[in-house]
Amino acid sequence: MQILGIDIGGTGIKGAIVDTVTGELVTGRHRIETPQPATPEAVAAVIAQLVLHFHWNGLVGCGFPAAIQHGVARTAANISKTFIGTDIDKLFSEATNCPCYSVNDADAAGMAEMYFGEGKGQSGVVLLVTIGTGLGSALFTGRTLLPNTELGHLYLDNGVEAEHYASDAVRKIEDMGWKVWGKRFNTYLTLMEKLFWPDLIILGGGASKKMDKFKAQLTLEAPVRPAAFLNQAGIVGAALYAQSKIT
Ligand code: BGC
Repeated sequence: MQILGIDIGGTGIKGAIVDTVTGELVTGRHRIETPQPATPEAVAAVIAQLVLHFHWNGLVGCGFPAAIQHGVARTAANISKTFIGTDIDKLFSEATNCPCYSVNDADAAGMAEMYFGEGKGQSGVVLLVTIGTGLGSALFTGRTLLPNTELGHLYLDNGVEAEHYASDAVRKIEDMGWKVWGKRFNTYLTLMEKLFWPDLIILGGGASKKMDKFKAQLTLEAPVRPAAFLNQAGIVGAALYAQSKIT
């Protein structure tokens, strides 16, 4: 089945048509800058622009950087707070005249990895952490997703919220080397391991491409692998999520 997958981020909103049987993109990715301020209406207008760009008239899946409960945004850590309480499925569907279904962005990336990437065939507990502006999480047990885990907001022993200590944005702002940042990230993953005992940890997001530069700092018992999908996990996973809503 072909579905338009859209990944909504703090700086860019990216879309492509996805073949949900193969997990491959049928078209190139199209990216539009995230409007500032990224109000619900402004973001909905960009989603509509993407639908027009692809001449699309079908199902749309959106990965969104917040907890999404039955289509409603419940949090807003790195996006406009005005999203909180907004029924984004309704808003985006009305803006595009297409049925739109939204899912947390890390959960979307996790679904893509479980279907087609590093989690393919993996049983037990799998934790995917996306490293970007925030720290996103997707937790699976027996291949079933527990949605909206929001584990980037846990507090570490030093009293600091994990995503304010070990995200890629913090690495850049504090101009940290990979070794220094890698130690911080290891502190975070160690807490995750103590709490969830995953059989496999998958790292997604921009920084996962640089794993060679920080893997020496990781002391986890579980295997840690970079995501198989680089930029397109969010797009593919969003399409898979939309498909799951109609089948
Ligand atoms: C948000 C999560 C999101 C993550 C990655 C966090 O700040 O709370 O919902 O998955 O950033 O975008």
